Amino acid sequence: MSNVVIVGTQWGDEGKGKITNALASCADFVVRFQGGANAGHTVTVNGEPIVFHLLPSGISVPGVSCIIGSGVVIDPLALVEEIDRVRGAGISVGDNLLIDVGAHMVLPYHKAVEAAEEERLGKSAIGTTRRGIGPTYADRISRTGLPIGLMASFDDFRARFTAAAERKNEILERLYGREPLDVGEMLDQLEAAAKRLSPHFADTPDILRGALDQGRNVLFEGAQGTLLDIAFGTYPFVTSSYTSATGVSAGTGVPPRMVGDIIGIAKAYVTRVGAGPFPTELFDSNAEIIRDRGAERGSTTGRPRRCGWLDMVALRYAVAVNGIRRLIVTKLDVLDTFESIPICVAYEIDGRRTETFPRTVDELERAKPVFEEFPGWATDTSGARTEEALPDNAMSYLRTIADMAGVEVAAVSVGAAAHAVVEFAQIL
Ligand code: IMO
Ligand code: MG
Repeated sequence: MSNVVIVGTQWGDEGKGKITNALASCADFVVRFQGGANAGHTVTVNGEPIVFHLLPSGISVPGVSCIIGSGVVIDPLALVEEIDRVRGAGISVGDNLLIDVGAHMVLPYHKAVEAAEEERLGKSAIGTTRRGIGPTYADRISRTGLPIGLMASFDDFRARFTAAAERKNEILERLYGREPLDVGEMLDQLEAAAKRLSPHFADTPDILRGALDQGRNVLFEGAQGTLLDIAFGTYPFVTSSYTSATGVSAGTGVPPRMVGDIIGIAKAYVTRVGAGPFPTELFDSNAEIIRDRGAERGSTTGRPRRCGWLDMVALRYAVAVNGIRRLIVTKLDVLDTFESIPICVAYEIDGRRTETFPRTVDELERAKPVFEEFPGWATDTSGARTEEALPDNAMSYLRTIADMAGVEVAAVSVGAAAHAVVEFAQIL
């Protein structure tokens, strides 16, 4: 395996957690490089679903070191809660968790400012997860953020935090007319979290470079998806980090030359949570069928996900942005009941047909999907574990994806359980 990046090719929730968890048994390190507790990665461990937000999805695999890289934004209070929850499910979190000292902290005021701003925006809100992601990255870029390593000497941190929190309280009160947050109370909570988290603090770029030099296997776990990337996604309806493979170096300190193969994850259809353009979105009973069969509700916020047919214009774009050569398709079984399945092969924008994904959100808003119908398989695929067990029409659906995206389809997932996967011996 050596060194592999897992990225989402859509608007998140592609099943990255399941695939990361499955590949983790071959890895020495699993590394998150961006995002924060906005991620919701559902993994089945000992037959039970468990959702990871900040912990890398390899944490349940014994012998794997999990790193939260410098590009991640960490809510220390949420992380402590998550560690306790995960331990309650029988997963051990100890020396197997390393937190980079350079990762910035999501603090209670970031969440308060974000909530106030989303409410101010009203109908034009982004529909964020309200986990404080945007305001935290904004502070980091504005050089007013607080890296988590500062908490190791809490007395110094206290002064910096107080200054930052007082400034944010001014914004909350004067701009948004909100109650100020209690600085003393926040400090007490953070001090308790610092005690719990500081044993995990480490210089993780150094550790990772050393590991790669020795040929150890490193798995980089993306959160969100390429279309939510701050630079290459459907701005402004994006998250505030580099969700594509372009973020790996900046988010881990691993030099670009050392970043290895990139595996894209795509659902057999598309979902989106929050606002923003979605050309293949369905509003009829098919949306309900997909939402029910695919349990398409946000694992972070519980919001129903918007559902639509597979969009090859967007997928080809994600393949190009990331340099993906191998794709893993997930949730194929969700489409088992359809007699016929449309795939979007092009857009029509202002009466012109195009196969190129528009770079401006205005243009994307005007894009009408051009569909081609593919025969469904109307067969239960959830028990398939071999290529022979997949219906012919399901295989041609997967081959169509491979051909149109110009990639190899290496595997397909047909259910939540870890073993519900068909690996292709001869890559499609
Ligand atoms: P995983 O890792 C799907 C979406 C939010 C919103 C936008 C910005 O589980 O795939 P943010 O809180 O990040 O500022 O919200 O991004 N979003 C996700 N959608 N899956 C996710 O993560 C997401 N993380 C953020 O719904 O539209
Ligand atoms: Mg998710």
